[in-house]
Amino acid sequence: MSERWHVLGVGAIGGLFACRLQSSGADVTLLAREDGQPTRELIVKSDQVERFQFAQQNLLTSQQPLEHLLVCTKAWAVEAAVKAIAPRLSAHSAVVLLCNGMGLAEIVAPLIGEAQLVLGSTTSGCRRSTENELILSGEGSTQLGTLDHSAEPPPWLSCWHRGIPNLHWETDIRSVLLTKVSINAVINPLTAIHQVCNGDLLQSPLWEKTHALIAEVQLLLRSAHALDIAAALPERVRAVCESTAANHSSMRVDVERGARTEVDAIVGWLLRDLTPNPPATPLLSELFEAVRQQDHLSSSVG
Ligand code: PAF
Repeated sequence: MSERWHVLGVGAIGGLFACRLQSSGADVTLLAREDGQPTRELIVKSDQVERFQFAQQNLLTSQQPLEHLLVCTKAWAVEAAVKAIAPRLSAHSAVVLLCNGMGLAEIVAPLIGEAQLVLGSTTSGCRRSTENELILSGEGSTQLGTLDHSAEPPPWLSCWHRGIPNLHWETDIRSVLLTKVSINAVINPLTAIHQVCNGDLLQSPLWEKTHALIAEVQLLLRSAHALDIAAALPERVRAVCESTAANHSSMRVDVERGARTEVDAIVGWLLRDLTPNPPATPLLSELFEAVRQQDHLSSSVG
């Protein structure tokens, strides 16, 4: 019998993973916030065009038990969404969080009872061109793991391996997530406030700011004893800016659309929660406030 997965948060990454899981043989259902069509088509465009048909359920009204749940919502939407579906989980369920930012596992764990919590990070490059159309720009790699450093992959991982390229089970997923959030803390607010592409951060006139921001994030990481992640950060930021040079970061896209950003789960978490005695980080703090200002403006207009 095929494994049953529900996907919560059908944006670019949620949609892409729904398609990948379906092509690996899973029975995938999309969870929607409103009553909509009982089925939905997603189209993935890369060098070829692939079409996928899904069943769709209202996450608030459907009662079907959830065996495997993939959560890909925006960081700020995770808590309310997981609360809404928590009664459908059991001790046999698995919940995979594939969201930006940190601090989400701590929010979700108390909500899901005995269900297994798996955290993930992906570098798959995908954007939505219309409601149902996804443009894949890079297969990327995906890492999954548990906060208790489990070396034993869950039985459903073989299904993920069939459909998801470059998938790795990690015993230290927290370091993977901390690395990603540190890279995002440099790239996302700078590109959002200056409305530039990722590659522009390596060029004049922004390179000096990028450099200073990397140094501040390194200070934070070092004060949390994450020395290896701090040492590797300049090279990691450079590599991501180069490989995504023409891309608009997710935070830039949110600011352009007047949508709420994930700045709190990315920069806010680093400033507030990474270490009990954070060093001074004036540039990062200033960018945090500037993006939050944009968030307030968009919520007061919206
Ligand atoms: O948030 C994003 O857009 C991406 O994580 C990254 C790495 C900044 C590339 O655009």
